Amino acid sequence: MDYPLFLAPMEDVTDPAFRLLCKRFGADRVYTEFINADALIRDIPQMCRKLNISDEERPVSIQIYGRNVESMVQAAKIVEQVSPDFIDLNFGCPVKKIAGKGAGAGLLQNIPLLLEITRQVVKAVKIPVTVKTRLGWDEQSKNIVQLAEQLQDCGIAELTIHGRTRSAMYRGEADWTLIGEVKNNPRMHIPIIGNGDITTPEQTKLYFERYGVDAIMIGRATFGNPWLFEDIKYFLQHNQPFPTRSMQSKIDILKEHIEKSIEWVGDERRGIVHCRRHFANSPVFKGLSDFRQTRIELLRAETKEAVFSVMDKIVQKWGK
Ligand SMILES: Cc1cc2nc3c(=O)[nH]c(=O)nc-3n(C[C@H](O)[C@H](O)[C@H](O)COP(=O)(O)O)c2cc1C
Repeated sequence: MDYPLFLAPMEDVTDPAFRLLCKRFGADRVYTEFINADALIRDIPQMCRKLNISDEERPVSIQIYGRNVESMVQAAKIVEQVSPDFIDLNFGCPVKKIAGKGAGAGLLQNIPLLLEITRQVVKAVKIPVTVKTRLGWDEQSKNIVQLAEQLQDCGIAELTIHGRTRSAMYRGEADWTLIGEVKNNPRMHIPIIGNGDITTPEQTKLYFERYGVDAIMIGRATFGNPWLFEDIKYFLQHNQPFPTRSMQSKIDILKEHIEKSIEWVGDERRGIVHCRRHFANSPVFKGLSDFRQTRIELLRAETKEAVFSVMDKIVQKWGK
């Protein structure tokens, strides 16, 4: 049986450098950071830069967000020109400056508009259109089972569901039961991708089996941990953990990520700052005894030489 694993779209994280790294370790599909439809239409360089995809990372999906039909249609047509494998519509972003203005998860409060955007984008482009959304706006309006049917009727190719409501933001545990309900709804025939709180190979296997989803999308657990895809794939195939990775080999991958980030950002210091989220969350540095001071050094280093030197020290001291 096939168990596809996707890298979740993440603003400020899933740039080409990180996507390619995850792809190398087995991610079956990668997504760009979300792109604001209006900014794309206005040709804002920061947004247009996010259209940068390469053949090496295919299949790749470009995600857009916005709050009106015309701009989403126009943005989708611009996206189509760079020929991604999918265009994904973001109806799940919970942050105030987006959802509060009626885009992202904000559209869960205006289902007719959400559906009209979807219908018109599907009509306007030849590339498969997919949607990523949440269970509903809040606890009282978890309408995903019905919404999934409506989205399917709009002609989308696939649906990704993050098992939280907008009100839950990222709090509490993701609830996969409704994702399973959508998947088991006999009216549904498009692939359903489950998302939310996946962190380990064991859990991935369990969730595939328990909820029957067609693919699983992983976000935060990949921070400083792009080899997670390989670990999961190995476990799914052999039912045992990936043979131990040495700390040196993991550090080498993190160093490569830094090099590629600096290249992508075009500035050494900013490239390093851009990677700090990965250092701060990498499982490589979790549970090391007496690590506090070294962690501070790692997160304060501003040159490649300084970061690499702290990393070498870590391998020497904790690498055995
Ligand atoms: C830093 C960060 C940025 C995110 N940016 C996006 C985004 O641009 N588009 C999107 O659909 N979801 C975005 N998300 C949500 C993730 O795609 C995913 O749905 C969420 O993190 C839950 O999955 P996880 O528990 O595996 O991390 C973001 C999440 C994080 C933590």
